Amino acid sequence: MRFRRNKVVYDVVIIGSGPGGYVCAIKAAQLGLKVAVVEKRDTLGGTCLNVGCIPSKALLQASEIYAELSKGFDSIGIKVRRPELDIAEMMSHKQSVVNANITGLTFLFKKNKIIHFVGTGSLLQSGKVEVIEQNGRKKVLETKNIVLATGSKAAAIPGVDISFDEKVIVSSTGALSLRTVPKSMIVIGAGVIGSELGSLWQRLGTKVIVIDFLDKVLGRMDRELSKTFQKCMEAKGIIYRLCMKIIAVKKEQKGVVVSFESAQGVSLFHERADVVLVATGRDPFTEGLCLEEVGVLLDGDGRIKIDKNWRTSVAGVYALGDVVTGPMLAHKAEDEGIAVAEILSGKGGHVNFDVIPSVVYTQPEIASVGKTEEELKAAGIAYKIGKFPFTSNGRARVNGHTDGFVKILACAKTDRVLGGHIIGFCAGEMIHEIAVLMEFCGSSEDLGRICHAHPTLSEAVREAALSTFSEPIHA
Ligand code: NAI
Repeated sequence: MRFRRNKVVYDVVIIGSGPGGYVCAIKAAQLGLKVAVVEKRDTLGGTCLNVGCIPSKALLQASEIYAELSKGFDSIGIKVRRPELDIAEMMSHKQSVVNANITGLTFLFKKNKIIHFVGTGSLLQSGKVEVIEQNGRKKVLETKNIVLATGSKAAAIPGVDISFDEKVIVSSTGALSLRTVPKSMIVIGAGVIGSELGSLWQRLGTKVIVIDFLDKVLGRMDRELSKTFQKCMEAKGIIYRLCMKIIAVKKEQKGVVVSFESAQGVSLFHERADVVLVATGRDPFTEGLCLEEVGVLLDGDGRIKIDKNWRTSVAGVYALGDVVTGPMLAHKAEDEGIAVAEILSGKGGHVNFDVIPSVVYTQPEIASVGKTEEELKAAGIAYKIGKFPFTSNGRARVNGHTDGFVKILACAKTDRVLGGHIIGFCAGEMIHEIAVLMEFCGSSEDLGRICHAHPTLSEAVREAALSTFSEPIHA
């Protein structure tokens, strides 16, 4: 910290306290920098902690228990009475989980002596951030560096007039706070949010119809996983209308009507539901930052343009997370936060964008790292595949979760693992051994020769690796 005319000069002021901003703040403080964070919400944690990852996982977990109990456990010798749903209590449980996380983060800010300003931050010039507090008072913070970590917001559907009331026409925020279980829900977008939140409400008893303009669910996923996932969801009762273009979303006195047509524009359809969830992607949130005034440039996708060290076009101004290029994932933002803090402290910060796992928290869960088959084909890379189904894994049978498989993709010439894809119970936990292997440029033989504890689900990962370079034992 330096003092100039009795004024604090921060080493870094971070605008936004989501996983990108708050991790950057903590790391920078740990490295000895004087850090301030400007956040317009009353609470720290951004979308992820307040209205995204954490509350959605709290409800997904609770609804999964409810769905399991509703199916009953007679076959394993446990008689349970029909469970009763108390949605108000489930929502308050969700909120208490959110509050606990926010309290934890507030403690970490204090512990690391990070100064927290509640208000809207914008750029005045390089080295100066204006904060407009909730009471309208203005403050100017002086700083050596600025990090923009303002995240993203729900995307609209171009050409379709949609006004979110977060009760009948909802984004993910409203879908996580419904007061009653809707009888029916239309989900526009079969991506990550549509799949997670659609399955959440389906488990609680809602009839769910998912509409997407692509011909596959979870567009970026490996097609084989996507197909298996769709089948599993259809078996649970979710209805998919793929290759459809949304024409209109109209709120009625009760509920909503969604009009859509086949991609070729031949047939027109209408569906009514109590609630519509619009989950057609997210846009970077840069409004009000005064980027143009200061000269911070955007790229062709409307994200803040950065170089490989997260530097924007203005000296001393950095950007990371959903506002810059790359997957809109909390953990990608976190890793960028650490790298930027290291760079600001004169160290070498780095993120390996080839090894960023992604997880869809449905049941079965889906987890993926590295390249998909489609990407390898498009890049002209010769590859071999090893697959192993959970039906052949002892622990999966014990658990009663035999849906899905593990798939490893390795270079045909070198055997280096280029991608790993898992659909199945706990896939999100198992993916990391493939990520570690890939980070160390390991081969499928390396993975297949590592002793795995028995009986575990992770043995399926090893067996998939064995299938890639040789043959599995249990299939
Ligand atoms: P997404 O990009 O995953 O999926 C959007 C879907 O909407 C795509 O399938 C697309 O084809 C479809 N779509 C777009 N416009 C449409 C239209 N007009 N009509 C019909 N379909 C249309 O985006 P999503 O699910 O909204 O998630 C936003 C971001 O948040 C993503 O980047 C996602 O990775 C991230 N996220 C990650 C989570 C996780 O890691 N578990 C959880 C929730 C969100």
